Amino acid sequence: MKEIKNYVESNKDRFLEELFELIRIPSISAKADAIDDMRNAAESIKKSLLEAGADLAEVKDTSGWPVVYGHKLVDESLPTVLVYGHYDVQPAEPLDLWDSPPFEPEVRDGKIYARGADDDKGQLFMHVKAFELMNKTGTLACNVKFMIEGEEEIGSPSLKQFCKDNKELLKADIILISDTTMIAQDIPSITVGLRGLSFMEVEVTGPNRDLHSGLYGGAVGNPANLLAKMIASLTDENNHITIPGFYDDVMEVSAEERAEMAKAPFDLNSYKSALDINEVVGEEGFSTSERTGIRPSLDVNGIWSGYIGEGAKTVLPSKAYAKISMRLVPNQNSEKIDELFIKHFEKMAPEGTKVRAKSLHGGQGYVTPTDFPAYRAASKAIEESFGKSPIPVRSGGSIPIVSDFEEVLGIKSILLGFGLDSDAIHSPNENYPLFNFYKGIETIPLFYKYFVEEMK
Ligand code: BES
Ligand code: MN
Ligand code: MN
Repeated sequence: MKEIKNYVESNKDRFLEELFELIRIPSISAKADAIDDMRNAAESIKKSLLEAGADLAEVKDTSGWPVVYGHKLVDESLPTVLVYGHYDVQPAEPLDLWDSPPFEPEVRDGKIYARGADDDKGQLFMHVKAFELMNKTGTLACNVKFMIEGEEEIGSPSLKQFCKDNKELLKADIILISDTTMIAQDIPSITVGLRGLSFMEVEVTGPNRDLHSGLYGGAVGNPANLLAKMIASLTDENNHITIPGFYDDVMEVSAEERAEMAKAPFDLNSYKSALDINEVVGEEGFSTSERTGIRPSLDVNGIWSGYIGEGAKTVLPSKAYAKISMRLVPNQNSEKIDELFIKHFEKMAPEGTKVRAKSLHGGQGYVTPTDFPAYRAASKAIEESFGKSPIPVRSGGSIPIVSDFEEVLGIKSILLGFGLDSDAIHSPNENYPLFNFYKGIETIPLFYKYFVEEMK
């Protein structure tokens, strides 16, 4: 532990400067014109891996954005850890809400502010630096592989096929991922559940053109009014989702397990005040942590129609659209949910309209066991570096590719995340505390050490 701390301490500033170089590349996977930036971000990671001591590192083409693959193979008889992360980031908009430019990282109040500071450049870079540390201090005791993709934020459309095509190359005993959060800097936790996702886009078409809202208003069905009603009907007064069959496969969590989960500290008042809301809203009969951790949800992520520019324009729109996400729990199947949604939504089409719904992307949820080597290793590593044993927590977020890893590669994942909910990922002023960044670099080598011990 002392050796680890010393290495981090004497290389602190360089680690940060190198991370900043990666963050400065605006690798926004959603933007089709980001070709050079995506390539540069991938090349930058490849270079970092080689400098950190990888035997091999390459940028591999896929049908979408490239994947960075790298490895150091010490000895076939030793366990192999496959590190997964993503170098792509979410768009930075709305830009005017940032206090400093999103791709010009800076440290304020002990936090790195930038798009990707946490999700996932800051977190994946901890692994590159921990790998460097183990190589430079001669403490790497197993084989390490890296698979860093560029499409996580758009639903990893090519990675499943990449895994199918590279099964042998990706062979490992565990997939190690830092792309989740912990409860607080002094309350470490390990994510043991991720929600699945069905992401839909809907379109309601009324008259064949935008109409004068005076000449036609009151006489022609307005797609925007009607879409609002349709969306409102998707949940009832208890905030249950009304789509027939939606809950059929939901895995109910036992009372004992719920009681165990309720032991994780959660302060509703600070939750509300951090969000400036005076009340929380969710499914009747469940706590806030349960509503995100073990129950599905349905939310509009975007909605548009008619005139949304400055000032007023009297118009009865021809079309209205919405993007709707459904977060799913383990055992719910996202393809089945897509179908149920489409069938229900299209059937609801009000008189005088046409309704279309389609799926944009999705994936299954995931639960990690707590009684397997990687969990025990992660728990010991955190206990040693944070001085407290971590609490298992089910997160509301999604990393759909994790369940594909298990399906295609037959490898389980361990979610050793160091972010905080307050890091504002996907939002303006995304940030990552230096404490978490350095603590992560210290914890990861301990994970390797204990994992190798557990696998003996
Ligand atoms: N790193 C997040 C997921 C996450 C964050 C899980 C915090 C748990 C805690 C990931 O990059 C992400 O944003 N995933 C997307 C899904 C994807 C298909 C767009 C999400 O959850 O919205
Ligand atoms: Mn992420
Ligand atoms: Mn993300």
